[in-house]
Amino acid sequence: MKILSIVGARPQFIKLASLSKKLKQFHDEIIIHTGQHFDKEMSDLFFKELEISKPDYNLEINSGNHGEQTGRMLIEVETVVLKEKPDIVIVFGDTNSTLAGALVASKLHIPAIHIEAGLRSFNRNMPEEINRIIADHTSDYLFAPTQIAIKNLCAEDLSSKSYLTGDIMVDSHRSAMLKVQDDESLFKYSINKNNYYLLTLHRPYNVDNPALLNRILFELGKLNGKIVFPVHPRTNNIINQNNIIIPSNFIITKPLGYLDFVSLQSNSYKIITDSGGIQKEAYILKKPCITLRSETEWVETVNAGWNLLINPSIESYYAEKIESFSPSLKYENIFGENVTTKMIEIINNIS
Ligand code: UD1
Ligand code: UDP
Repeated sequence: MKILSIVGARPQFIKLASLSKKLKQFHDEIIIHTGQHFDKEMSDLFFKELEISKPDYNLEINSGNHGEQTGRMLIEVETVVLKEKPDIVIVFGDTNSTLAGALVASKLHIPAIHIEAGLRSFNRNMPEEINRIIADHTSDYLFAPTQIAIKNLCAEDLSSKSYLTGDIMVDSHRSAMLKVQDDESLFKYSINKNNYYLLTLHRPYNVDNPALLNRILFELGKLNGKIVFPVHPRTNNIINQNNIIIPSNFIITKPLGYLDFVSLQSNSYKIITDSGGIQKEAYILKKPCITLRSETEWVETVNAGWNLLINPSIESYYAEKIESFSPSLKYENIFGENVTTKMIEIINNIS
């Protein structure tokens, strides 16, 4: 079959990495990169490190408000789909690139697979929540990462097209872990194993308001220990435009490649984030995770006692809570195993 994979943002390259390798063994795979993420360290580095084939199309669409960005993606993705006439389109996660890909496929009556289907934060102020709901309702094959995702899909009457595959990032993460050289990153940042926090922030509700971002960084500055902070470009722009002060216990870096980042995760003491993917990876690595959000779509990690939610816009003095957070000893496999193989088996049976 001719299969068209559509990606655009950092976490989608990571998800594509393991699937694309297997897809290419059985099918003719074409990759569209919408261009949503474009800095070398947000895009090219992932293709190189994770050995993903160069995209067949890079649409270079990366500016504008949501409507403009998604609208331009719709126009250009449709042009490619009409030209390539794929048998199947695959979209990943919940970004604007996901939304555009799913809508184009649906309007052109091309079967679409949505990978990471069924997630719900139940917060419709997040652009991702809208994107994932639409992608689920317009796609034909919903690959759900967890039981709760399946439950969410059933609640929206989507069970007949849902498959419990597990989470594709399990496989990408495992491959990366096999490649990382543990000590390199510790040496590079003069930090010691299990003795630093790893921080990422990029959710608009945390970083787009400079006063809140300032307060978050100030609060984290009270933590006893170093904080390694690879700064997402959205966050970097706000820090620079508003001269936000970085506390002295922070080690600031550019966004890191996946191997460096995975290595820093696995050696960290605790992980502090508002990222979706990082909450999962922290759980996979059995690292205490503090999520700076009021809710999460990865509720299993919270229920299991490994992920503490802190809403930074209403809570103060949370450094103490972060320091004292100690996960339960309970641990079960939430995200599955051999996920790529399961997905490929389903795809190979689509005719
Ligand atoms: C996007 C996704 C979000 C995902 C995140 C992963 C949407 C609505 N949001 O958020 O779901 O969690 O990616 O990281 O699709 N920028 C650069 N260089 C880059 C990338 C972005 O300068 O390589 C700038 C953009 O120009 C923009 C800002 O960062 O000003 C935000 O980028 P955008 O892709 O719109 O949203 P993200 O916050 O990255
Ligand atoms: N990541 C990375 N380098 C970094 C920060 C994150 O490789 O500097 C990886 C991280 O391991 C995870 C993914 O990027 O797999 C998460 O992406 P992000 O937080 O941008 O998006 P989200 O998952 O929230 O959509």
